[in-house]
Parts: sequence; structure tokens; C-alpha cells
Amino acid sequence: MTITENGYGGDRLCRGDKLIIGNGIYGYRGTLEENGKNEAVALTTCSFYDRRGDSWREPVNMPNPLYLRVKANGTALSKENVAYHTESLNTDNGVFSRCTVFKIKDVTVTLKSERFFSQIDYRLLISKVTLSCDKSAEMEIADGIDLDVWDINGPHFTTDSVSYNPLSVYCTTNEGKHLAVTLYEKCPYKPVNADFSNGKVLNFYKVFTKEITLERFAVLYRSDLDKCDDGKMLLNNLKGYDDYYKENLKWWREKWKCAKIEIEDERNSQLALDYSLYQLIIYAPKVSGLSISARGLSGQTYKGAVFWDTEMFMIPFYLKTDKNTAKNLIRYRIDTLDKAKQKAREYGYEGAFYAWESQDGVDACSDFNVTDVFTGRPVRTYFKDKQIHISADIAVSLYQVYKETKDIGILNDGIEVLLECAYFYYTRSYYNHIKKRYELLDVLGPDEYHERVDNNAYTNYMAHETACLAIKGLKELSKKSPERYREISEIYKNIIPKIKKFKEGIYLPKPNDNGLIEQFSGYFKLEDTTPCELKKRLKDPKEYWGGSTGVATATRVIKQADVVMLLCVLKRFPLEVLKANYEFYLPYTEHGSSLSYSAYARLACKLQLKKDAYEWFIKTARTDLDGGGKKYAGSLYIGGTHPAACGGAYLTVTEGFLSDGLNSLPDEINSITVNTQTKKYKLKRN
Ligand code: BGC
Repeated sequence: MTITENGYGGDRLCRGDKLIIGNGIYGYRGTLEENGKNEAVALTTCSFYDRRGDSWREPVNMPNPLYLRVKANGTALSKENVAYHTESLNTDNGVFSRCTVFKIKDVTVTLKSERFFSQIDYRLLISKVTLSCDKSAEMEIADGIDLDVWDINGPHFTTDSVSYNPLSVYCTTNEGKHLAVTLYEKCPYKPVNADFSNGKVLNFYKVFTKEITLERFAVLYRSDLDKCDDGKMLLNNLKGYDDYYKENLKWWREKWKCAKIEIEDERNSQLALDYSLYQLIIYAPKVSGLSISARGLSGQTYKGAVFWDTEMFMIPFYLKTDKNTAKNLIRYRIDTLDKAKQKAREYGYEGAFYAWESQDGVDACSDFNVTDVFTGRPVRTYFKDKQIHISADIAVSLYQVYKETKDIGILNDGIEVLLECAYFYYTRSYYNHIKKRYELLDVLGPDEYHERVDNNAYTNYMAHETACLAIKGLKELSKKSPERYREISEIYKNIIPKIKKFKEGIYLPKPNDNGLIEQFSGYFKLEDTTPCELKKRLKDPKEYWGGSTGVATATRVIKQADVVMLLCVLKRFPLEVLKANYEFYLPYTEHGSSLSYSAYARLACKLQLKKDAYEWFIKTARTDLDGGGKKYAGSLYIGGTHPAACGGAYLTVTEGFLSDGLNSLPDEINSITVNTQTKKYKLKRN
């Protein structure tokens, strides 16, 4: 389907997110050819990180190869003379297009362009621009590579060399990595000049004509992934625009065959679903050893780092539609086990404590994640130190990937992840000799507003599950891979008994007489108020709600599903418990993270709360279409797209509407058809 935005004067930051294209390695924000860094143009990279000075390390935004500006009969085509403008993204084939009509004194000029990434060769970004006039005019076109790019903590590179035929730049990052952008153009005319000034390397065309078309092929290079000479080969063997276009259509047709969900519903959610799945498709890395960051490829928010979002919200989509990607994503964690072991040791523990915000396995999360809006001072946050549930999230997901792909290679290599994560929890726990149980103290659960709490239910249950899976994984190995089993049993012979002890002894907060599981020790004693009430207490709309002094800290108000998330992930609690906790926690939940809606959606399905389920589904599926999600935490910009919410939409359909959830669809939905790599599921409302 097509997402269309009309009018030239829209919110560029929002449109940039919404109309994004990508191929897993690169993303290009939905911006216009004449835009620059003020309009947040970005050719964003997956895992190509750089640090400038003491500021946060973030992914590099490459030089923009699709810059273009035009004059007709001496007058610049600019926002002052726009008569009509529309821009759109086609989720069926990943093509962004725009059409703008400029009326200047004596001539009307229509600028049409389209762009897409090659999905076959991730180094290629392809575009076509056509300028047509109602009568012949003198057209002056300057187009090429803009090196003055949008950054949060940049600049990230300096330009080492520039060449002109074709236009090409070669740059070095602050960390000494290299990148290059080469722009090859096909045009019936020759440039009259080429030049490097004001941070732009441009070709200049001057022709008297009614119509001119430029086909543009940008070849991208980054030294961490590519060999420089391969780029030259690609350039020498470039195909025509139409060939790439056809190849692109074919790729997307095949992709959608395994991924499309058709929905017939009251609020026309087809577009929202297409767009959610589109995002997951364009963010799937094409190379092993990479993963997906919390804002996909929409910019540098959250340092381009990988969170639990990938395992808990996105991998389930790939398990059904693209098993290789699911395996690649979990391999990213297997490959970074050493870094997780190192992090555990830095905190004085053993085993594997995965990065909360992973940049190639290293924790990119800072000690001071938000800034106090009143004083401008950094606020100490404990996300990376205390959000220990990350290791369990990875372990649970790893086992699921093994189970669903039946790839013994995942278990052979992943068994150490399971054992090391379980061992970490054992070493991190405190044995309460009075109560005779292991406890996990001073932690942070999924609800980030309550830091440094004891026995967060989600964390304790997930740590227990990790220990169970480590033991189960060993058993499975003994049957399927006896040699590896013997090897591992020997290496871990002193550790396995400790994991077993922890598994038996970890404190699992039980539902009370009302069926309620306390989010953490002491939670029920906190002030009973609601997010709405807290909003009234804010002295600044951008104020941070958590931390030591936030408005939510001393109250029951939570940022996102926490106990409810636990009840979704571990499917072992009886319906009465699901019901009691859904009803109890709902009024306290701010949904300040886009991860929250889909947890409520899935639970609502299990509880046959069809109306609620539909509402939550709409919220998670429309997060990015409606430009939802918070843009600031304190004064920190956290905008961009929300792939975890997209994965949440998928989970709601597959685990909620279709699976063990509702016995029939919500009244608002007539039918749903889910295509996967192996099967097609269809459900019609009775
Ligand atoms: C949420 C985390 C999430 C992160 C990235 C935060 O606001 O609290 O649970 O992992 O955003 O999406």
C-alpha cells in the first residue's frame, strides 16, 4: 500500500521517519532532494559506529549522494514557488517517490523522483529524477554528494579525497574507519562543471530543454564490511535503472509472499499492518553478525544500539517469515558472548551480563541517560547497571529460535549463552538465609521509572526460566549432539550444580489472595495515582518521570508493561491471574514506551477482551503512522521509528488473534490471513 503526505510544508522530522527506505545495512530518511541537514536528511548505517570526542558513540550518517537543486530560467525552485506537492512510500516495493510542481514567472516545472535501495546488493542506492516544463526553459541543475550531514553527536568523518568523474568522496571517521560514496549518473547531457564547495561535491548541468532525466546510482562503501575494489567492480558492471527497478519488484513480491497479513477490519488497518511489516523487512540485516537497533535505520537515536526489543518483539516475526534472519539475529548474541562475560566481570560477577544497549556487544548505555530539564545537569540512570533481565530475554529468545528452526547449530553454539546467562544470575543473586531463597536485589525491571528495586517479578521469573532452559538445553544436547554435550558437561561441571541450585531456590513472587503479582518488593505500598494525575504535576512537559526525583518514582505509575509483559512471555499463569493483573496494572501504565501496547494486546486476547485487544492492536500497529512515541526523555531527542511496536503488531495477530488467544475475532475484524514461510493461516469472524 502507499503512504502519502501532501503539501510541501509538512513536519520534515516526522516525514523523514515515516517515509524511510532501507535494506538492513542502510536506511535513507524520507526527505527531499533539495533538503539538507536542517531537514534531517540521513543515510543511516547499521552498526557502523563512531565516537567524536567524549560524546556518545553513534552510527555514522554517510554523505548524502542524492542532493539536487534546480534553477529554471534563472529562478531557484524553492518552497516559495511550490504549487503542488506530494510524496509517498510504497510498502509493496520499498520505493519512495515525490512530485512537486513549481510555478515561476514564465514556466511551470514538475519535479518527479523516485528512489529505492537494492535488496540484492546492499551497497546500491538508486534514484531517478525527471524535470519537465510546460515549455522549453533554461534548466540549471546542481546535483551530487552533500557531505554536511545531520548528526546528533557528529561530525563523524573528514574528507580525504574527492574525485569528479564519477563524483566520489572518500572519508575517514574519528575512529579511523573509512567510508566512500560514489555517484554515477546517467543523463543525456554532460555536466558543464563540477566542483567541491560548501561541503558539497556537485555536477552542474545547464541545458535549454522541456524535459531532462537523471538516473543516479550511488555505490556505498564502509571499511568494516566491504572491500574497496568490489565497489569499483560494481560500478563497472552497473545495470540500467529499469533493470534494477524490475529486480526490486521481484524481490519484494517474493518477500511479501511469506510475510503478508491481509486484514479486513473496521478501521482499515491494512496500511498500518503493511507498514509495520515493511519496517521489519527493511531493517533485517543482510549480513550475519549484525542486528537491529531500537529505532531501526531511522537515525542515530539510542546510539543505533541493540536492545531487548530485537529478541522479545522482532525475532518472532522473522521466525515465521524469514528464518535465516532470525538465526542471524540470535547469532549476533552468540558472537558477542565474550563481551557479555566481560561486562559481568566488570561488575564483579561471573557468567554473561549482556549489554543493555549493545554496540557490537559492548554496552553503549551511558551512566547519565537523561538531562534534568530544570538544571541542565545529567541525571544518573541505572539502565545498563541494573536492567539485568536482558540476559534472560536473550536466553529465552535463543531457545525459541532453536525450537522453531530445529537448527542444532544454534544449540551447539548457543548452549554456552544459556549456561553463562544462568550462571550470571546465580552469581548476581543473594542467598537469604532466613527465607532460604535466592533473591535478585537492586535491579531495574522493564518499567524504567522504578530503579534499583528488589525482586522485580519479571526479572526473577525470567532468571528462573533461563536456568530451566540451560538445563533443558543440556538434556536436548545429550540426545541430539552427544559429543558437544560431553564437551560442555566437562567444561561446566562445577557450574551446572550451581545453576540447578539457583533454579530450585530463586524466589518467584507468587500471586497474592487477589491473584496479584507485586511488580517488586514494596510496590503495593507506593502512592496510588494515575499517569493522568502525574501529568498535572509536571512543571515542564519534557520532564523525566523516573530516576531518583521523577514524578513517577514514589508512585505506582509505571512506564510500560512489566508484570503484564511477564504474563505474556511465560505462558504458565492461570487465567484468573492474567485477569487480575491486567485489570490492576492497566490504570497505572503510562505506555511511555512503544513496547507496552502489544503486551496488553496479547493479554487482552487471552482474556477474551476483544474490544480492548482491538484497541491495543491499533495502537501498536499505528505507532509510526501516527508519528506516536515520545520524542524526548528529559531534553534528550529519542524520535525515530519503532520496530518493536511493529513486531508487537505482528505478535498481536499471530499470538493473540490467531493462536491460543481469542476463540473468535473481535467484532471490528472480519477476517485475517497470515502468510508465512511455511503455511497460510486464515480466520474469519463467525
Ligand atoms: C524502554 C525500553 C526499550 C527502549 C528501546 C525505552 O524507552 O523503556 O524497554 O528497550 O526504550 O526501545
